[in-house]
Amino acid sequence: MHPLPNIFPQLHTPRLDLVELQPWHAADLLELFSDPLVTQYYHVMPLKTELDAERVISYFYHRFKDHLGIRWGITLQGQSKLIGTIGFNSFPQLHRGVIVYALAHAYWGQGYMTEAILELVRYGFRELELSRIEAEVMPANISSERVLLKNGFRQEGTLKKWMEWEGRLFDINMWALVRE
Ligand SMILES: CC(C)(COP(=O)(O)OP(=O)(O)OC[C@H]1O[C@@H](n2cnc3c(N)ncnc32)[C@H](O)[C@@H]1OP(=O)(O)O)[C@@H](O)C(=O)NCCC(=O)NCCS
Repeated sequence: MHPLPNIFPQLHTPRLDLVELQPWHAADLLELFSDPLVTQYYHVMPLKTELDAERVISYFYHRFKDHLGIRWGITLQGQSKLIGTIGFNSFPQLHRGVIVYALAHAYWGQGYMTEAILELVRYGFRELELSRIEAEVMPANISSERVLLKNGFRQEGTLKKWMEWEGRLFDINMWALVRE
């Protein structure tokens, strides 16, 4: 795998811009992750204030600087409102990246995340030279499974009691796409 670049890469899809998160995205990020529909199968620390959201943005900034992960903000092309986030949460090994993604509920069902994941996969395989891209999905998260299937990912199995969240253990379906 190539290390992450030092300059944050802006990416584009036919309808979306994938941009570096900035402090002025805090209000939109707060709105995104305060919605129980968004966090039902996507566990994040609850954000209560814009300051909390700014801290998360700063956390992502440092993860990128330290080459540990990369998180893009998603906007409709040419617009400033943040409608979601996507990225490689971690690289457990040099050839492997774990993706995460979330979209504001008002924008669901229009193919946006399928489009964003396609670009992330291109970036991961072509630019970062990953050999394997993974997604950890909670079993009832049907729409997440659909976007992965539509991008060629396959479910490899269920990891029992894989994730701990607020004192509870959750099974996780492991989805992956490998570079042939
Ligand atoms: C998962 C998520 C990113 C999908 O984004 P999206 O832009 O709505 O996805 P798309 O429009 O590209 O595709 C959604 C697919 O799921 C399908 N779908 C949605 N709800 C469904 C349901 N309850 N049952 C069956 N299919 C469903 C849609 O029909 C569509 O498939 P289709 O194109 O074959 O019709 C979005 O729902 C989200 O942000 N969820 C909350 C955060 C989250 O769970 N992230 C993933 C963590 S692993």
